[in-house]
Amino acid sequence: MEYDLVIFGASGFTGKYVVREALKFLNTPSSPLKTLVLAGRNPSKLAQTLTWASSQSTTPSSISIIKADISDPSSLLNLFSKSKLVLNCVGPFRLYGEPVVSACVETGCDYLDICGEPEFMEKMEVRYHDKAVEKGSLVVSACGFDSIPAELGLMFHCKQWVPPSVPYKVEAYLSLESEKSIVGNFGTYESAVLGVANMEKLMELRKSRPNRARPLNKDAIWIPSMDYVDQLVKYGYGKKMAPVNMTTIVSMNIFQSELRMKASDEAAADCMVSPRVSHIPGPRPSKGATFEHQKKIGLWGLKLPSADSTVVRRTFVTLTENPDGLPGVNESEEEIEKRKSFWASMKPAHFGVKIASKSPFGLIRVIIAGIFIGLFGQFSFGRWLLLKFPSLFTAGWFKKKGPTEEEVESAFFKMWFVGQGYSDVTLASEGNRKPDMEVITRVTGPEIGYVTTPIVLVQCALVLLGRRNSLPKGGVYPPGIVFGATDLQERLQENGISFDLISKNTYSA
Ligand SMILES: NC(=O)c1ccc[n+]([C@@H]2O[C@H](COP(=O)([O-])OP(=O)(O)OC[C@H]3O[C@@H](n4cnc5c(N)ncnc54)[C@H](OP(=O)(O)O)[C@@H]3O)[C@@H](O)[C@H]2O)c1
Repeated sequence: MEYDLVIFGASGFTGKYVVREALKFLNTPSSPLKTLVLAGRNPSKLAQTLTWASSQSTTPSSISIIKADISDPSSLLNLFSKSKLVLNCVGPFRLYGEPVVSACVETGCDYLDICGEPEFMEKMEVRYHDKAVEKGSLVVSACGFDSIPAELGLMFHCKQWVPPSVPYKVEAYLSLESEKSIVGNFGTYESAVLGVANMEKLMELRKSRPNRARPLNKDAIWIPSMDYVDQLVKYGYGKKMAPVNMTTIVSMNIFQSELRMKASDEAAADCMVSPRVSHIPGPRPSKGATFEHQKKIGLWGLKLPSADSTVVRRTFVTLTENPDGLPGVNESEEEIEKRKSFWASMKPAHFGVKIASKSPFGLIRVIIAGIFIGLFGQFSFGRWLLLKFPSLFTAGWFKKKGPTEEEVESAFFKMWFVGQGYSDVTLASEGNRKPDMEVITRVTGPEIGYVTTPIVLVQCALVLLGRRNSLPKGGVYPPGIVFGATDLQERLQENGISFDLISKNTYSA
């Protein structure tokens, strides 16, 4: 392939920060990124982007500027057929995203984007998954602040629940902080306004799809690993059974201790010590408060209709269908083992996201924006007003010109994960037994839209370019199931995004 990486929409507000981040890894030792294309509809704007991002007066031969326009599919096909991977920064994705996905799938090129629009992501899955599998094109949306910190943050959180403990419900509290003001660019605002306006289409799309397996089943709590089942069969404990119901799990625990005594080889003992929990234990939780004070972390939280929870749900659905994760194109034995053991340790939980602040007054801007977008986003004149005066309707949160560089540099985020669960999985089977354990973890990082998003997107790109053989051949997937078992979390940590365990407590229920 002529080009390793294409940054499409490189001249956009977010695109230019993605270029700046990618340049840090271009042609550095051990980086798989050797050739880079800045693509978009306006070559002179792309050249200005490069000057801004690289602070160099001459363009190195490893960087090309290529004109490609959404309204000219042949320009996309031509470029993507020579490229390994496209990072799509052209949004709103509902308006401009499909031709890019379509051209990537057609040419077998891989695709990542920074979309935070559930309808676009789910529509692409419906329309392009099968063809992407056939063509060997890996299509992964939401590889920015939406929704990698939520996906990897939740996985990091779930790993803290050491067997036999299991999480039941995890609530994420997103706190945006800054010494100056927190400002978002118009592109994100426009995507949000159009998302609210088209909420019904998302519901229709979901209704039109066949039901998929879900990690939610009040009877089934635990699917033993196939190794475990094989051991049961080997030692004469009946036929293969999965999923098991509540009654069976109690007897399974008896089997486990008996079996451990019988099993002579180490491998068999190992597979019994960590049985896989692939369903969420306990009954479905109540919807919970829309607005609440979470004393444990000292924050007020307001429920957020975020893309994160829908993306996380898609990852858990894919995991339920593929309990060992998604096989790579050509994995080594070691990689297969690593992937299987990563996903075997993953325990799904009910998940929701709240926007949070130290004081309830800190959420006033969110409430104002939410009310206006919710009301005015429903009709065309209202949308026109919203898009004409973004700053007015969001109390200065979103601006046509976006944040200043100082505003970008001074902002940061903290995403707290407060998880409730059971210190022993068998407790979940005791009628209405309340969770008796709490784990709090946190992901922190710099400004979300133009610092964290480029870091995350570029690291996903480097993982994909560097270890393509250990990732699925093709298909449309959420990011967690594709990157969860890779070294993405370590890479993010090396680049300024941290994952921390804050506390772990067991209390009497
Ligand atoms: N996941 C996250 O956390 C996250 C963070 C930041 C942004 N985003 C999303 O990223 C998207 C972009 O946001 P932004 O603020 O960067 O918007 P923006 O500044 O308006 O940038 C849009 C880009 O799209 C390009 N474009 C528009 N029409 C095109 C066409 N016909 N052909 C080729 N390129 C075209 C623009 O090119 P020109 O420069 O030539 O106009 C520009 O490069 C939004 O959907 C936003 O929600 C997500």
